Amino acid sequence: MMAPVAPGGLQGAARILSGLLEARTGQVLSEGRAWRMETALRPVMRAHDLRDIDDLAAQVLRKRHSPLEEDVVNALLNNESSFFRDLQIFDMIHRQILPYIHAERQDRTLRIWSAGCSTGQEAYSLAIRLRNDAARWQGWRIEILATDISTAAIEQARAGVFSQMDVQRGLAVGDLIKWFEPHGEDWRASADLRRMIDFRQDNLFEAQAPHGEYDLILCRNVLLYFNAERRHTVLRLLANHSHAHSVLLLGAGETVIGQGEEFMSHPEFRGGYARKTTLPDCTGGPMRRAG
Ligand SMILES: C[S@@+](CC[C@H](N)C(=O)[O-])C[C@H]1O[C@@H](n2cnc3c(N)ncnc32)[C@H](O)[C@@H]1O
Repeated sequence: MMAPVAPGGLQGAARILSGLLEARTGQVLSEGRAWRMETALRPVMRAHDLRDIDDLAAQVLRKRHSPLEEDVVNALLNNESSFFRDLQIFDMIHRQILPYIHAERQDRTLRIWSAGCSTGQEAYSLAIRLRNDAARWQGWRIEILATDISTAAIEQARAGVFSQMDVQRGLAVGDLIKWFEPHGEDWRASADLRRMIDFRQDNLFEAQAPHGEYDLILCRNVLLYFNAERRHTVLRLLANHSHAHSVLLLGAGETVIGQGEEFMSHPEFRGGYARKTTLPDCTGGPMRRAG
């Protein structure tokens, strides 16, 4: 991973625009993305008929909270994602975590939150695994909430339309044929899959979308570009939406270690995290849900 660049380390227009990104999302640009900033913003400049990055920064300063500002933030966010990203994690979800929740959860309700879901591949991957195992989940109420700050990413996720290149990254041919339909030159997730996921545009620092507790939370490759204080703020939010038996999964390069007191390594699932049961409002006992 490239080191993040504090906006103070950039000059002029780049500093203004990366400052805007940080103020709106908490994300600090990585060194690599800071170098490629102008390239990432070129479509925005074209769409708004702006000469160069200086012109763009000047317009952003002039018009706060405008569609232009939204487009800049969307263009600077790193929305990198793929189906079944880090396959071994999805295998662990399928073989260990979901059976554990299935055995424990007495009210036959499964609640999953994909926090920082980007264009939806993570949530669709989960939905596919669950649908392929439909007999096991017969009679269960399944809720998948998927949130991201990017309006553009959420729009694409909700539409469920993916390019040939997107589907070639991680999706098995059998799943593509079973769960997607040709859509011009692209592929569209079936209505059945789309119905399973509630995609919401939401900022982790002003979260409105999550309600109650989730059995499984994925917040993968999101914390990476937040500073330590913001990472802790997000982990507190995730802890507030967890119960004693919830499983939290982060990205391969992310950890809760040294990031506050809310989570610990999961005793059963390698690479997963569990909410510390010593937290004041934690129920401990068998799986049950507040409210
Ligand atoms: C690199 S993508 C990871 C996508 C997916 N979780 C995965 O691992 O494939 C990170 C996502 O976090 C989102 N994000 C960044 N800051 C956020 C914030 N403050 N609130 C919600 N989402 C945010 C970005 O828009 C981006 O889509």
